[in-house]
Amino acid sequence: MAKLWGGRFEKETDPLVDRFQASLPFDRRLFRHDIRGSQAHARMLARVGLLTEEEAAAIVEGLAAVEEDIAAGRADLRLEDEDIHTNIERLLYAKVGPLAGKLHTGRSRNDQVATAMRLYLKDEMAAVAGLLRALIGTLLDLAEEHADTLMPGYTHLQRAQPVTLGHHLLAYASMFRRDLDRLADCYRRTDVLPLGSGALAGTALPLDREFVARELGFGAVSTNSLDAVTDRDFCVEFVAAAALIMVHLSRLAEEIVLWSTAEFGFVELDDAFATGSSMMPQKKNPDVAELIRAKTGRVCGDLQALLTVLKGLPLAYNKDLQEDKEALFDALDTVKACLAVCRPMLATMKVRTARLSAAAADPWLLATDLADYLVRKGLPFREAHRVVGELVRFCLEQGRNPAGLPLEEYRRFSPLFDGDVYRVWDARACVAARRLTGGPAPERVRAEIVRLRAELGEFTLAKSPR
Ligand code: ARG
Repeated sequence: MAKLWGGRFEKETDPLVDRFQASLPFDRRLFRHDIRGSQAHARMLARVGLLTEEEAAAIVEGLAAVEEDIAAGRADLRLEDEDIHTNIERLLYAKVGPLAGKLHTGRSRNDQVATAMRLYLKDEMAAVAGLLRALIGTLLDLAEEHADTLMPGYTHLQRAQPVTLGHHLLAYASMFRRDLDRLADCYRRTDVLPLGSGALAGTALPLDREFVARELGFGAVSTNSLDAVTDRDFCVEFVAAAALIMVHLSRLAEEIVLWSTAEFGFVELDDAFATGSSMMPQKKNPDVAELIRAKTGRVCGDLQALLTVLKGLPLAYNKDLQEDKEALFDALDTVKACLAVCRPMLATMKVRTARLSAAAADPWLLATDLADYLVRKGLPFREAHRVVGELVRFCLEQGRNPAGLPLEEYRRFSPLFDGDVYRVWDARACVAARRLTGGPAPERVRAEIVRLRAELGEFTLAKSPR
């Protein structure tokens, strides 16, 4: 069909341009939200007298029929109609005739597309938040089960001090809990209606923006028409939040990869969440975790792409803004897929507690506690650190286990050592004593699980104050 804007043109668009500028292949996923926006606009036009009630009802119904056709895959969507918005308008003509031409009253595709994007992203953010909550829930269940399961904590990937698996998993729950907050924060700024901003300068027609906002469930209306049609901050914020979720997932995934090696052997993935090798019959590979790790790169790239599209754009709308979609959609699809697969991968993996406790039995995990022992006897910590360092070197050189060293030998390093020194060599007591807020003591970990569960129970995306 002729272009929406064909009036002032003498020639048809070159087919190369039709293909080049078409966003239909990727923005067709906005069809439901575009139609919801159009239905609200039509109702509003009737309310302010720009359409009769009958006309509005016919348009709303026609749009519902178009929605059904698209959903059923029987709509005739055409690339040369540029985008989903124009296609829907043409399909509406086929349903209600020239009346369809009244729908665009007081509206531009610029405020229309911004509205559809915000509506869509609000729904999708709710889906992402749901997946995040489920993942946190699984981490909390696992942490509860393993609140007493000792394991080495690491720095520089070298054994450092004892913690529990429960405490380690809660670290990830804490990251994802903050991610949830970031979504809620971004949601608040996405929840603003741009419709009524026209192409850039609003409209003199007596539109009722507040009515449309209420109809569509937006918490506020935008307050500057130029900003409203060019603002994609909400996309950037969401993709940034998604990138950080991915970064957190990738750290967890990397640990799963590492832990499922023969060298660590801390976990074994369920067969349903692992893959084999086409050549080596013995292999069981953590492909899912590896892909989560790798897909993080895509989402970080999406963020970079989006920021670069926006950089240096003059006001107001520019076609550049059409490039927001693939980055946003890719980030959304990727983060959703990774969250969805990560949760059951964790829930079904087998934790090899014997391997964890064997690793946690390394006495040197308690070297810091030995230094603290001397501190309690009055030695300055730096001095205590040196004494224990010398004792570590001695034991390593001689192949001795410090827990079995006779007291005289301890005394060669410091006269402050006494018979009670042997109590240091108890990883469980070491962890249990770390009861400060945020510490790994099982009672702390259990309290933290309760606190996080309560927070999750109350969490809603929309509740945050605006
Ligand atoms: N497909 C366009 C986009 O996604 C819709 C807005 C087009 N507006 C325009 N003035 N060409 O940005």
